[in-house]
Amino acid sequence: MVEAGDIITLTAGAWRLQAPLGGSSYGQVWRAQSVLDGTPAAVKLVNRAQMDLALPPQRALWRASFDAEIAFLRGLQPWDQRHIVRLLDSGEHDGQPALALELLDGDLAAHLATLRTRGDRPGIGQALAWTAQVNAALAKVHQYGWRYLDLKPANLLVDAPGNTLKLADFGTNRALQDSAAHSYAGTAAWQAPEQFFPDEAGRYRTDTRTDYFALGALLYWLVTGIPLRYCAACADAYRTHGTAGAAALHAPAILAPDEVALFAGHACADDAPVALLRALLAPRPEARPRHALEISRLIARAAAGAAAAYPLRSAA
Ligand SMILES: Nc1ncnc2c1ncn2[C@@H]1O[C@H](COP(=O)(O)OP(=O)(O)O)[C@@H](O)[C@H]1O
Ligand SMILES: [Mg+2]
Repeated sequence: MVEAGDIITLTAGAWRLQAPLGGSSYGQVWRAQSVLDGTPAAVKLVNRAQMDLALPPQRALWRASFDAEIAFLRGLQPWDQRHIVRLLDSGEHDGQPALALELLDGDLAAHLATLRTRGDRPGIGQALAWTAQVNAALAKVHQYGWRYLDLKPANLLVDAPGNTLKLADFGTNRALQDSAAHSYAGTAAWQAPEQFFPDEAGRYRTDTRTDYFALGALLYWLVTGIPLRYCAACADAYRTHGTAGAAALHAPAILAPDEVALFAGHACADDAPVALLRALLAPRPEARPRHALEISRLIARAAAGAAAAYPLRSAA
């Protein structure tokens, strides 16, 4: 167990833990500072208490997730890190993998929650700019030979002004080379149908376009402030029944006409943002964009339409 004030020694330096930032079932993230020069960092550690309670296969899976995250981040070049969180240090603590990341202001879920308490929300221009940044981050992940499979606001880090997003949390990365169907992975509230509904063998066949669906779900949420009904239903089914929830669920249509109308109303009169949303959220992966470049073009068209509809806001 770690606590504030503890010093975590990794390969390049030593990091003093300051306060918990977040975490999940198996990880803990701490705000920290370099003992050497005061550089701020986010230190990600294995949750020791959970690890000790887990069965050996689960432990091995968690450890593999940490190792995969470190290996992916270590392989990046400085120019890849515009929209992907930068690894500062890595190593082992208490016999478990650990890493230190550049410290950002928080995640996009918290950022939007703060905006909402002020009665504010991102405009279409901001939502599209963020979508473009996430598209660039996913392109990097795909270029390095991985699919990401866990795109959601909590895995997007944001700087204090809210201008720059960086993708984080690469423990769910799966090699593109490995095209075989796999066990359940990711977060039900943001998933493409092929990632939520298993095949007859109870497995899931995903690829890069699985990440594009989640990008569409994110765009819808950013613009309207609410999740797609389809995603909310999947999340609900998973919360109650775990992966078995898929069999019992009569999922609502993805992007029903009233949802398109709500999105279009927030977006602007131009139909380019709707075309982008429809492309990303196509129920069948084959019908989604095949490459980040295709998505970039759709985003550029949508942004041009939004700028024409809101000239003053986008000039500000
Ligand atoms: N570099 C960072 N800067 C600021 N906050 C971070 C950073 N990394 C993670 N966090 C916070 O910790 C949470 C959990 O981190 P994440 O890497 O997603 O781990 P987990 O596998 O536990 O989901 C994030 O949702 C975010 O709120
Ligand atoms: Mg996470």
